[in-house]
Amino acid sequence: MHKPNKITWEEAAGIPETWITATQALYLVGEFAPGKSVLWHAGASSVSIAGVQLARADGASAVYVTSRTQDKIDWCVKELGATAGFDTSNGKPWAQELNKLTDNKGVDVLIDFMGASTFQQNLEAAAVDGHIVNLAFLGGTKLDAGVDIAAFLRKRVRYEGSSLRSRDPDYQGKLRDKLVQYFPRFEDGTFKVFVEKVFRWEDIQDAHRLMESNKTKGKIICVI
Ligand SMILES: NC(=O)c1ccc[n+]([C@@H]2O[C@H](COP(=O)([O-])OP(=O)(O)OC[C@H]3O[C@@H](n4cnc5c(N)ncnc54)[C@H](OP(=O)(O)O)[C@@H]3O)[C@@H](O)[C@H]2O)c1
Repeated sequence: MHKPNKITWEEAAGIPETWITATQALYLVGEFAPGKSVLWHAGASSVSIAGVQLARADGASAVYVTSRTQDKIDWCVKELGATAGFDTSNGKPWAQELNKLTDNKGVDVLIDFMGASTFQQNLEAAAVDGHIVNLAFLGGTKLDAGVDIAAFLRKRVRYEGSSLRSRDPDYQGKLRDKLVQYFPRFEDGTFKVFVEKVFRWEDIQDAHRLMESNKTKGKIICVI
């Protein structure tokens, strides 16, 4: 890939993993199409920042986000144009809020990085024929006793995991080609890369500490 002229090398470094992951989750696994609604968990995470922009640009009927901090939710609405956001901290009933907002229709595609901690509410928030795409286990892998799986049948919900590294080169190559098609939109400013902080690689421990703080809104880049 050739770096788009108008973005810096540090910004460019923040593009491939995040935009390719968001593309894979949204289209290849989530089967998003214009007019559908999407929820991106951890809306200010680097993958979701890409995903919110992609879904909006491709005519989503609504793009919801979640976060455990109100500050990040407000940022996603203001900076990324998300429709609304929900606070997932401390077991808050965010799915109930989402259902209230959508007249109990729920959301068509949910992109999840938490696994266990969002499993039940994802099922509650999913629309009929909804797709839940799981990409990580930040909230654990073991479900509590009493989790209700009725939505799988009642709403024909599909729950599917995905990863990039386990895919064969052809599959990864197609995603690379799709990414290159976005480049004019990085050039004209339609798509934005959000870099939280650039570190010298010698300061990698500080970079890790920043990541662990969960305060980032976008990528941490290390220059080698
Ligand atoms: N499967 C794949 O193909 C694939 C590819 C790339 C990345 N990933 C994974 O996707 C995830 C997101 O990547 P990223 O680069 O976008 O991350 P990131 O920019 O570092 O953002 C991660 C965000 O996740 C939220 N979070 C962290 N720990 C949490 C927890 N215990 N419970 C709930 N929320 C938590 C925090 O947001 P709030 O503070 O807003 O809650 C945090 O800011 C990572 O786990 C990464 O490994 C998977």
